[in-house]
Amino acid sequence: MLAGDFDLDANARLSARGLAELQLERLRQTLVRARGNPFYRTAFAQAGLEPERLDSLEALAGYPFTVKDDLRAGYPYGFLAVPREKVARLHASSGTTGQPTIVGYTGEDIATWAGLVARSIKAAGGAPGMIVQVAYGYGLFTGGLGAHYGAEALGCTVIPMSGGQTEKQVQMIEDLRPDILMVTPSYALSLLDALRARGIDPAGTSLRIGIFGAEPWTEAMRAEIEGAFGLRAVDIYGLSEVMGPGVAQEYGDTQDGLTLWEDHFYPEIVDPETGEPLPAGCEGELVLTSLTRQAMPVIRYRTRDLTRLLPGTHGPMRRMARIGGRSDDMMIVRGVNVFPSQIEAEILKCRALAPHFLIELSRPGRLDEVRLRVEARDGCGEAERAAAARELAGHVKGCVGISVSVQVGDPGTIERSTGKAKRVDDRRGE
Ligand code: DLL
Repeated sequence: MLAGDFDLDANARLSARGLAELQLERLRQTLVRARGNPFYRTAFAQAGLEPERLDSLEALAGYPFTVKDDLRAGYPYGFLAVPREKVARLHASSGTTGQPTIVGYTGEDIATWAGLVARSIKAAGGAPGMIVQVAYGYGLFTGGLGAHYGAEALGCTVIPMSGGQTEKQVQMIEDLRPDILMVTPSYALSLLDALRARGIDPAGTSLRIGIFGAEPWTEAMRAEIEGAFGLRAVDIYGLSEVMGPGVAQEYGDTQDGLTLWEDHFYPEIVDPETGEPLPAGCEGELVLTSLTRQAMPVIRYRTRDLTRLLPGTHGPMRRMARIGGRSDDMMIVRGVNVFPSQIEAEILKCRALAPHFLIELSRPGRLDEVRLRVEARDGCGEAERAAAARELAGHVKGCVGISVSVQVGDPGTIERSTGKAKRVDDRRGE
């Protein structure tokens, strides 16, 4: 499958005005289409909203939000805006709380998605003919198949590894010589370890581009992975409720945050507490409205992801800053708000520590206690480990504002992820 007439270069081709006109037209169509679904039909009718009369992008702010619980309540097929027979594929969100949410795609949706991922890989620096190893999980998770169809649509050769089988991944990197690796940043680290364990210098592999996403990561982690692999690492963002990977992508030539593919998704930033729209450039919760989805349009979906919008650098489409965390990943430790990504950044400042960690929260008495389990880098002795533990505790106290105890273990003692890493073990309720 090739991208065909999909507009891979819309960001360079459209003017700001052309983009806004296209968005308004597509938004109106989407709102009309959404009314094909009972949830939106009722919500619009109750609020007296008539999609045909929408005359500006700003007027979208008058429409109700969609939250994850709405999608859960509609489980499994309640959010389709087309007859089920028109649905070509189903995926499900990873949902940490038991019930997944189901997402449906028509054949046209799958083609659009493939086009957007192809556009993303191209923006990252990929080109037809390159070899892409996809190490995102295949299955109900959107990462594997989303990346796969996109890479094929761009005209790449795809190695459909999925997550796991780390030894095999290494062998394929060695033997098939991929140019591009698409994987979660935490699993990229596991692959690094595995390469080194086989005596292979990661900087000597064929890999030139890493397209990493599906979980928060930091600039420090980018430097770590780029340094070790000798590749260019870029960020890819997406979520199953809105499509999957390829909602936003960082350009490889500037590495300056993720360009939101605004001809297909309309972004807003709202106050996570009140839901009020925030002024341009302010950090808040990202809210997304699909502009072209057929099977399951989503209107003003509350992503829970915290970011801010920035002006475009490759065309009129705006960028979003790297996502530091989700509002529901935020830990409140003795009243201080803490994101796992802040801890990651502090660990990577300590030269003796490897970038693998687990944050353990407990409440033995009345106060929260935080223990950071980290790993020493290879060859670090006792004295260096003790110094690193003190150094890390000091950094976390100084920069994040909480007191922690640090346990530095041997290399390889923290459980490795093959997909999204688990960073927090919160036992405060037990
Ligand atoms: O993680 C889709 C995806 C697959 C994106 C592969 C990128 C690459 P979900 O499982 O529904 O879908 O999880 C979506 O993951 O709301 C964010 O909280 C988080 N997330 C995704 N990409 C990033 C990123 C896929 N680049 C949720 N940075 C989102 C930070 C990310 N967080």
